[in-house]
Amino acid sequence: MDIKQNNYFFLKLTQFVENYCGISLSDKEHKRVMSIISKRLTKTNIVSATEYINHITNVKGADELKIFINNITISETYFFRDNNQFNALTNYIIPAVLKRKKEKKLKIWSAGCSSGEETYSIAIALHKADLFDKFDEIKIIGSDINSYNIEKANSGIFSKHSFRGVNDTIIEKYFSENSGKYSIIDQVKKKVEFKIFNIKIDQNKNNNTFLKNIDIIFCRNVIIYFDKTIINNILKNFYKLLVPEGFLILGHSETPDILGENLFIPIKTDNTFIYKVNYPPDNQQKKNIIQLLPSDNNKKQTDIFDNLLNLYLTKDYLKAKNLIEKYYSNTSNINILTISAIMAINREDFKQTFGFVDKIFSINEFSPEAYFIKGLVYEEKKKTNKSVKAYEASIFLNPSFFMSYFRLAQIYQKERKYKKE
Ligand SMILES: C[S@@+](CC[C@H](N)C(=O)[O-])C[C@H]1O[C@@H](n2cnc3c(N)ncnc32)[C@H](O)[C@@H]1O
Repeated sequence: MDIKQNNYFFLKLTQFVENYCGISLSDKEHKRVMSIISKRLTKTNIVSATEYINHITNVKGADELKIFINNITISETYFFRDNNQFNALTNYIIPAVLKRKKEKKLKIWSAGCSSGEETYSIAIALHKADLFDKFDEIKIIGSDINSYNIEKANSGIFSKHSFRGVNDTIIEKYFSENSGKYSIIDQVKKKVEFKIFNIKIDQNKNNNTFLKNIDIIFCRNVIIYFDKTIINNILKNFYKLLVPEGFLILGHSETPDILGENLFIPIKTDNTFIYKVNYPPDNQQKKNIIQLLPSDNNKKQTDIFDNLLNLYLTKDYLKAKNLIEKYYSNTSNINILTISAIMAINREDFKQTFGFVDKIFSINEFSPEAYFIKGLVYEEKKKTNKSVKAYEASIFLNPSFFMSYFRLAQIYQKERKYKKE
């Protein structure tokens, strides 16, 4: 295969893989993936890479597709990886769940659990904190697209390598050792079950009864390989599957990039970030903004504003901009100016953005919105220190200005700079 053909082949393959499971294969992975395919060609009777892709994209190639996906997924994991998140689970989340629950049933989903270390860590953390007895029923479901991983998870047997993040007392208490292999004890194992599951497409199937009324979803270090649009769709699905007061835990470098959709509220606890379902989703945001409309607004104006808000929330910026120009060209409504400014950032028109910021400051010199917008612009310009200061200023002016917390969370996570509470 010449270079051109090879590149064309890789492009076709990456498109298929992304569509199938969300994983975005970068150019850096070209060599790794081609080497996997070449090994598969020798194991099957398939003669060329082109034929291979035709095969795995065909129904008849479903079994080979599974093997291919098993080979390309990155399965790195270990017990109690990012331990703070397990502290957050037992110190913050479970007490919150217990407080509101009448029915003492707990359902946790560990989505993209690899070989099960994360799923068992959840169960061990609950047991260690004496929380098993607080519920009548505990179900912890681990799922992964990789069938090798799920097979290993089901066995409950691990090598010492899986324990690089834990101390020996956990191993002694929760595992029995035999010839260098460690088996999880039954008391913990029976709380856990595993399934092969593709979070990109299987969530939309109706027969997934386990995906109902979930209290907590762990999805750590999985969406890191996905494109933004796919992440947003997955997070929207998580939102639907979680109970109204449910929680989401992502990996450290991942954040629900849902600014404007307002589906999850970041909470900082135990030196980590967790995300709480914001229920109802957009209404709260709408309500806050609508309440600020002048009281003499008539119904038509409220409808126009509602329409504008919907266009903005669904990211239909062009229509939103047209509507603003038509109905709000001289507005002094801070919320409409804020929306206009954020849309100007989206067009990378920073001059106009600062025009809106100045206008907001002229209406309210202590506007948290204006500082928030400044923070966004500085972030775009990669002036992180300035953006942090701007977000902090907006929080100072309005301690419940959650969007600034959210952006700060993203910055800290990116830089792995966790400030002590
Ligand atoms: C790096 S591991 C993370 C394991 C564990 N969550 C942790 O943080 O230690 C990523 C896992 O995501 C799984 N994965 C990738 N795409 C997936 C998809 N579309 N559906 C389900 N699992 C997926 C991979 O098979 C892999 O086991």
